[in-house]
Amino acid sequence: MPHQTVDLLLTHARQLCTIPPHDGGPQRGHALGDLGIIEDGALAARDGLIIAVGPTNDLLDRYTADVVINAAGKLVTPGLVDPHTHMVWAGDRAEEFEQRIAGATYQEIMAEGGGIARTMRATRAASLEELVTTAKKRLDTALSHGTTTMEIKTGYGLETAAEIKLLNAIALLDTEHPIRVVPTFLGAHALPPEYADDADGYIDLVINEMLPAVTAWKADHWPGDLFCDVFCEEGAFSAAQTRRVLEAARQAGLKLKIHVDEFKALGGTTLGVEMGATSLDHLDATPDEEIALLGASDTVAVALPTTPFALGLHDYTPAQKLLDAGAILALATDCNPGTAWTENMQFVLALATRYLKLTQGQALVAATLNAAHAVALGARIGSLQPGHTADVVIWGTGDYHELGYHFGVNLVEKTIIGGRVVYDTAKR
Ligand code: NIG
Ligand code: FE
Repeated sequence: MPHQTVDLLLTHARQLCTIPPHDGGPQRGHALGDLGIIEDGALAARDGLIIAVGPTNDLLDRYTADVVINAAGKLVTPGLVDPHTHMVWAGDRAEEFEQRIAGATYQEIMAEGGGIARTMRATRAASLEELVTTAKKRLDTALSHGTTTMEIKTGYGLETAAEIKLLNAIALLDTEHPIRVVPTFLGAHALPPEYADDADGYIDLVINEMLPAVTAWKADHWPGDLFCDVFCEEGAFSAAQTRRVLEAARQAGLKLKIHVDEFKALGGTTLGVEMGATSLDHLDATPDEEIALLGASDTVAVALPTTPFALGLHDYTPAQKLLDAGAILALATDCNPGTAWTENMQFVLALATRYLKLTQGQALVAATLNAAHAVALGARIGSLQPGHTADVVIWGTGDYHELGYHFGVNLVEKTIIGGRVVYDTAKR
């Protein structure tokens, strides 16, 4: 058979984890962790897409390439997908971290006008350029740690113009940085001081002024999916307020997510399942009945173990109960300046193996294929199979069992997005 020419041929991976979809979808419940390993595996890509995976000898018989990467002895996986971040902000909250070390709680600091409101003040005052410049550094860090797709939320503007500025920053990051970005409008993240005693009035503003502006922005700037999220929590927004925002967002053609049960369960999980949300995130305090509902649905459960870790709390997402219930479990960083400042999905794997009791293989699928489903991109990314985008990580280890186990250091050797090497330890 004559050789076909491709753009990229990756050969001789010790373990090539294809992470196969199950019935064309995510890996549900205890079926989580199917890695589809090909030993001495190879991958061919053309025009940014994977066109074949298989044993190296087979692919060498069929393809020649402009770029050949010999991955002998290495682990190769899909690029990591981080489906929940608040990556664009100005200022920091190091002082609040110090207060928390001394015993203040996240909610106490929020009630005193700190927390999200503090970051809001700094973010409103920052220019678009400043926001993009600082966020780019964070995306560089994420990329070097293996993240190839990242969801990013607004939510530090809390007024129409500043929320649109954040959407503009997010769109610029998508075009100016190799990481593929998925935007989420989180206007209902916290009450801005102007509405301190009028949560319903603020929800009116979100629905009547912000959402139309966001919809117009999408028409001009964003052909892909746009999500709407709400922080459903005591001190933030009730389930009834969350419902109002999400009904209007759904009407406007946005897909839905909710921050639920981070500290207290307010019924957000039931609401999200009923409304067909793409994902429900946090789930640290979710009651058993709602775990059962979520497990029986197609809504992805996104665990964010960095948050309890970083707040020094002990209630992690009950991942085993979610798996028992058949849920689609995914992992994310929640990267934000208040509760969890890390850009590093490998650290999330370290926490998920220890506190969620996921095996290394389960954590890897939760951070790739299932995470892709949490941003409605499961048909294009998160798995190494023909037709999927060639987003790949080559690791400086040959065994997936090292992921999460060996922590606090960066195990990535190369990150590839759309068939192009965009991070390479050999070139530093
Ligand atoms: O997911 N819970 C709400 N939002 C973030 C925290 C944001 C912040 O404190 O700045 C979270 O934990
Ligand atoms: Fe969050």
